[in-house]
Amino acid sequence: MYEDRIRLARLRDKIMSAQDAATLFKDGMTVGMSGFTRAGDCKAVPLALADRARQEPLKITLMTGASLGNDTDKILVEANAIARRLPFQVDATLRGKINNGDVMFLDQHLSETVEQLRSGQLAPVDIAVIEATAITENGAIVPTTSVGNSASFAILAKQVIVEINLTMPLAMEGLHDIFIPTYRPHRQPIPLISPEQRIGTPFISIDPSKIAAIVITEKADSPSNVLAPDAETSAIAGHLDEFLRHEVKVGRLSASLQPLQSGIGTISNAVLHGLIDSPFRDLKMYSEVLQDSAIELLDSGRVSFASASSITLSKPTYEHVLAHINDYKSRLVLRPQEISNHPEVIRRLGLITINTALECDIYGNINSTHVSGTHMMNGIGGSGDFARNAHLSVFVTKSIAKQGAISSIVPMVTHVDHTEHDVDVIVTEHGLADLRGLAPRERAQIIIRHCVDPRYQGPLLDYFNDACKRGGHTPHLLEQAFAWHTRYAETGAMV
Ligand code: COA
Repeated sequence: MYEDRIRLARLRDKIMSAQDAATLFKDGMTVGMSGFTRAGDCKAVPLALADRARQEPLKITLMTGASLGNDTDKILVEANAIARRLPFQVDATLRGKINNGDVMFLDQHLSETVEQLRSGQLAPVDIAVIEATAITENGAIVPTTSVGNSASFAILAKQVIVEINLTMPLAMEGLHDIFIPTYRPHRQPIPLISPEQRIGTPFISIDPSKIAAIVITEKADSPSNVLAPDAETSAIAGHLDEFLRHEVKVGRLSASLQPLQSGIGTISNAVLHGLIDSPFRDLKMYSEVLQDSAIELLDSGRVSFASASSITLSKPTYEHVLAHINDYKSRLVLRPQEISNHPEVIRRLGLITINTALECDIYGNINSTHVSGTHMMNGIGGSGDFARNAHLSVFVTKSIAKQGAISSIVPMVTHVDHTEHDVDVIVTEHGLADLRGLAPRERAQIIIRHCVDPRYQGPLLDYFNDACKRGGHTPHLLEQAFAWHTRYAETGAMV
């Protein structure tokens, strides 16, 4: 049974139920699970772990690549099974537990988690739980729709549980490129000089004797929940398209631009979608996640190659891609997130990065994570890896949130994820602020003029002008800098 899925015959004895596999977990363990933005997560073992945690004290530190699908975080947190969580999440129930202090959340740059693990700066992984398409003749693991941190989790863990997902086509083998950097202090350069290059193996090589359990599943990834482009996101896409055309016209970019990275969410998806009708050609993507828009760009021929760590798609696009995975394999590669997000590679390739801000301030600092400075939304994800090292770092946001009660451009951000030094361009539906080569006082005027919703433009200009009277390289009225946020908390509207 499962000869094609578990090709190392002796491992077939390890097949067991998720409930039996879950008996391996002990209270206080650190568990590394596969899964990156809803793709390639384990479908059965986490549920069995939650069942156990409902009956006995069993709390783990849970590490993943990024967010999980299938409500796994919600189910685990409701079962009281998570003590600590890293490095990213998007689940509303878990978010609540993080924000009331019940779950300790480590919000990390996605490229860094496994570096910290292998250097002993984080507690070692006791058990890795990895979704796989197959196990090879040598006991190596072929991942599914994401690689994330799976390779290093499996390599570093004391024991490995593999979930073989029968819905993943065997033809997925060859989609992945697993490269693990040489360990410090003898680190060598990562030999990746173009997005399409393969530098590793198509599977995760581990000592097969570490595989303690194999669980068979047949559940699909959760579909992505991005919304279709709307008037605002289409306008943002339009401004960026116009800007990029101008950069080509003046010779700062070629018609194939630079490799593109685009963040998660509805706005990023819409911005990439907007490139379908652009004049750019032979585009390449070097991103951490590919959403529907990336597949549309590949299908249209506008993008000739896409590299990422996961594919997170709507149901129809997911079914289409899995059914035609052989066609996509020559134009698509999935890498460990340490490599997709590696500062060395990002800087070398010279990426144009497009990420979403929760709020920006008039000087170009960006808050991607903390609502009103205190409450975690999702996490920084890969945005810091990309923005800091980009050739051109773009942040997009709608100019207002909550029907206009909130301005996304504020006097001072209440939490800084990306400093002014990592931000070249800000785009809202009203326009684009090109901040390159500008000092803070110049940046403020451009941002207020181009990006701010009309109802907030006057108050923001007043703030800036009053602050300038006091002086400073980056003028502020410290006693008023957060007045908009406190007013929102007290009255439900910022101004
Ligand atoms: N204050 C409070 N809430 C705000 C806000 C602000 N300034 N700006 C937006 N929001 C709210 C929206 O109202 C919306 O709330 P809802 O879910 O209750 O409707 C929510 O934040 C999401 O905003 P939306 O405009 O739909 O954008 P999005 O889906 O594109 O998500 C981020 C935006 C910033 C939350 C998301 O991109 C993110 O988590 N980024 C950090 C990680 C990252 O950038 N990774 C990049 C590499 S993948």
